[in-house]
Amino acid sequence: MAHATAFDLNGWSREQLARVEEALSGWVRADAPAGLGEAMRYAVLDGGKRLRPLLVLAASDAVGGQPQAALRAACAIELIHAYSLVHDDMPCMDNDVLRRGKPTVHVQFGQAQALLAGDALQALAFELLTPEGDEVPPAVQAQLCRLLARAAGYEGMAGGQAIDLASVGVDLDETRLRRMHRLKTGALLQASVAMGAACASAPAPVLEALMRYGAALGLAFQVVDDILDVTADSATLGKTAGKDAASDKPTYVSLMGLERARTLAAELLAEARGALQDSGLPDTRALTALADMVVHRSH
Ligand code: IPE
Ligand code: IPE
Ligand code: MG
Ligand code: MG
Ligand code: MG
Repeated sequence: MAHATAFDLNGWSREQLARVEEALSGWVRADAPAGLGEAMRYAVLDGGKRLRPLLVLAASDAVGGQPQAALRAACAIELIHAYSLVHDDMPCMDNDVLRRGKPTVHVQFGQAQALLAGDALQALAFELLTPEGDEVPPAVQAQLCRLLARAAGYEGMAGGQAIDLASVGVDLDETRLRRMHRLKTGALLQASVAMGAACASAPAPVLEALMRYGAALGLAFQVVDDILDVTADSATLGKTAGKDAASDKPTYVSLMGLERARTLAAELLAEARGALQDSGLPDTRALTALADMVVHRSH
C-alpha cells in the first residue's frame, strides 16, 4: 500500500509535462525554411520521457527558483538532448532506424536534414536561454548558458560520444566505462539539476549535495539504459533493443553482467537519495521520485 504521504509523481509530472509540451511546441516552429521546421518538430515533439525537463523543474522548485527561467532551462536542455539523439541515431554513429516509437529523423527526412535539424535545435536551445527584456536576469542567463554549453560539449555529451565511438570492440575497464557514461549521458542529467538550482541562488552546501544527487542519478540512468537494451523489447523501448551487443559496444552489462549492473543501479539510487537528505532542503519529494523512476523504469 502506498504511504499516505507518498509523493504523487504522476500528478506532479502530468502538470509539469503539460507546461513543457506547450512551451516546446511554441518555441520549435514549423516555419523554418525548406522543411527544416518539420524535421525539428518531429525530433522534439510527441515523445520522450522528458526526464531532463522534469529534473530542471523539480530542482528549481526545491530551491525556490524563478519559474520562467526554469521553464526556459527545461526546454533548452530537452532541445540539446533531442539534437543528441538525432545525431546519435545517424548512420555515421549508431545507425538506428527507430526512436521514440517512430522512424528516426534521418530515415524520415534524410541525413542532411537530420544533421541540420540537430544543429538548429542546439542553436535554439541557447536562444531560449537568452530572452530579451527582464524576464530572466542577465547573470542567471549567463550561468544557464555556461552550464548547458559545458555539459553538451567536449567535457560532456559530445566528448562522451567521441569516447563511445572510439570504444567499439574495446574492453573498457570500469574506470573508463564510468567516465564514458558520465560524459555522454551523466553530464546533461547533472546539468539539468544544476540549471534548476541556478534559477535561484542556492547556498554552496545545498548546491554540492544536489550535484552529488545529479552525478549519481546521471550514471544510474546510463547503467539502466544498458540494462534495458538487453532486457526490454523494441516495442517497449521505442528504439531497437539489443543494439549494444550487436554493435559491440562496451556497457555495464558487458563489463559486469546483468545482476551486478542491477546492484550498481540500486547503489547509485541509494547514493542519490542520500545526497538529497544531505541537502537539508525541505521538500525533495519530486527529486526523490524522479531518481526512483530512473532506476525502476521499464523504458
Ligand atoms: C536516451 O535517453 C538516450 C540516452 C541518453 C541513453 P532517454 O531514455 O531519456 O530518451 P527519451 O528522451 O525518453 O526518448
Ligand atoms: C546515447 O547513448 C547518449 C547520447 C548522447 C544520445 P546510447 O547510444 O546508448 O543511447 P540510445 O540507447 O541510442 O538511446
Ligand atoms: Mg550511442
Ligand atoms: Mg544510440
Ligand atoms: Mg543505449
